[in-house]
Amino acid sequence: MSEIVSGWQAALMGNYGTPTVALVSGTGSTVTDEDGREYLDLLAGIAVNSLGYAHPAVVEAVSAQVSQLAHVSNIFASRPAVNVATQLIERFGDPDARVFFCNSGAEANEAAFKLARLTGRSRILAAANGFHGRTMGSLALTGQPSKRKPFQPVAGGVEFYPYGDIDYVRKLVEIDPEDVAAIFLEPIQGETGVVPAPEGFLQELRQLADAHGILLITDEVQTGVGRTGTFFAFEHDLAPGVRPDVVTMAKGLGAGMPIGAVIATGEVAARFTPGMHGTTFGGNPVSCAAAEVVLDTMDEAFLAEVRRKGEAFASRVAAIEGVKEVRGRGLMLGAVLDGDWAAKAQALGYEHGVIVNAPKPNVLRFTPPLVIADEELSEAAARVEAVIAEAKEKTENTENEN
Ligand SMILES: Cc1ncc(COP(=O)(O)O)c(C=O)c1O
Repeated sequence: MSEIVSGWQAALMGNYGTPTVALVSGTGSTVTDEDGREYLDLLAGIAVNSLGYAHPAVVEAVSAQVSQLAHVSNIFASRPAVNVATQLIERFGDPDARVFFCNSGAEANEAAFKLARLTGRSRILAAANGFHGRTMGSLALTGQPSKRKPFQPVAGGVEFYPYGDIDYVRKLVEIDPEDVAAIFLEPIQGETGVVPAPEGFLQELRQLADAHGILLITDEVQTGVGRTGTFFAFEHDLAPGVRPDVVTMAKGLGAGMPIGAVIATGEVAARFTPGMHGTTFGGNPVSCAAAEVVLDTMDEAFLAEVRRKGEAFASRVAAIEGVKEVRGRGLMLGAVLDGDWAAKAQALGYEHGVIVNAPKPNVLRFTPPLVIADEELSEAAARVEAVIAEAKEKTENTENEN
């Protein structure tokens, strides 16, 4: 075991398990470990490093900002936060919308949860198998009982619906429509194995929510910021000009710097009056300087490239033996394998110089940097093919031995 990894084991809590690889640097879509081994990164820090590693414009903006002013707290205004919030409002498409900044996805959902409570209604509907984070509020919204169980009681009032089952949601609403504050969902469930909502589901939820004055809240922590080939994933499903009431984001927004954001329509945002909510680091100028670069980079041509590269990579991976189906959108893809050997493939990936992730026993997830080049994607696909073949073979041999 390397010195960094053993040091990690000795000093950090065990909530993640012990990593097997220690990374020391990265450029573009390649990261390097402490022994100088390089890996093509198809995970990007779990969909975070949207512009890859050491992107020159990010390095420049962050370096300039940290040498000018690293932190101001929420007692003072700062230019980078204003610039990012203004751009987010423009992209959301409602000039009356307002932004709240925080530092992570869980915190963004925590804030959205509070906005839902401020409707004065007590019921919140969230999707079974969904994932919204690990704080007590975001955990309460997370539709995975095994994650909530050790920490009960979590915040109350949350009821779960099968993801994609509009009739079930309608029945839940009908129990007492006036008391439903919000419907939460991820447009594509990420941690659950890249599961897209069925076509039309978001639209139907929007109509249902409108009919009863319910907030529609999309968690775009993973799907947002160009990951699926549109800036927000809801744009794939809702008609132009139609949007959720609240969107939460984080991950890719800061190109590796910690930042989370909540965008809410004016009426909803107005419920946060002074003293209602806050976080010391929210809107941190350095994180916002990085986010400005992300937003400036992500124009329509950039997003079209994400869609093109995603489609090419998805069809290449779908042709690999042992892959049953590739699902997802843009560069947020999941390969459904014909057996439970994704974790083995993830581990073997390190030997083959490719980073992939196994959110489920039979699913490999790909969320590479959005700037990844075509040649890197084809090389990565070849390595994934080798990894899948080896993982499948090793699993079958072990099964035969047993
Ligand atoms: C959809 C979604 N929501 C929330 C979170 C939590 O984000 P964070 O880990 O930044 O708190 C995640 C993290 O994977 C996520 O995928």
